[in-house]
Amino acid sequence: MVHREMDYREVDRRETGPRCHVGGEELGEAALTADPDLLALRSAAMREKEAFLTYRHYGLTIADRRLSEFFHHEAMDEAGHFIELNRMLARLDPVQAEEFRHHDLDFLVDGAMGDPRLSRWSSEAKVRDPEKWLDALKESIDLEYYALNIYQEDAARAVHPEVKELLTRIMNHEKDDLAAFIHELYRLLHRR
Ligand SMILES: [Fe+2]
Ligand SMILES: [Fe+2]
Repeated sequence: MVHREMDYREVDRRETGPRCHVGGEELGEAALTADPDLLALRSAAMREKEAFLTYRHYGLTIADRRLSEFFHHEAMDEAGHFIELNRMLARLDPVQAEEFRHHDLDFLVDGAMGDPRLSRWSSEAKVRDPEKWLDALKESIDLEYYALNIYQEDAARAVHPEVKELLTRIMNHEKDDLAAFIHELYRLLHRR
């Protein structure tokens, strides 16, 4: 506990990043923790984490090479969103930025975005049943619809223009994902 309090004051003095700004006004520590955009960014990062790990899992386990590549590509997209959202969190919350750096997660704060480079290694058995591939696509489509709804609500409510822009941009990317997943679903349903 004492350790956390000391860290916090240290970060405050060093001014490691921009402080919380609402409506162009710089606000202090209490307002920083009350910034509603932080809540939206954390929830969004949580959803992107869920999506990228889910798609990665299907990319690793689906036996169909084409579908497996498709899931892998989608997983990397979501991993990119996860990084972007955490970078925005780090921009608005210097304590979070400091903790990311403290845990060697500098890429969640700044630097080149690069390729999320997800490992392709897995010891899991390949899934050969197309009915299970359908289940994977159904689950993914639900994740995308759900993400779209929340992004739409959160983008409308966002206080910081840069947060509104980021949430809107990612939301529009999810529309492309949704269409791509539905395309794969129909492709599988019509396969002979
Ligand atoms: Fe995403
Ligand atoms: Fe997506």
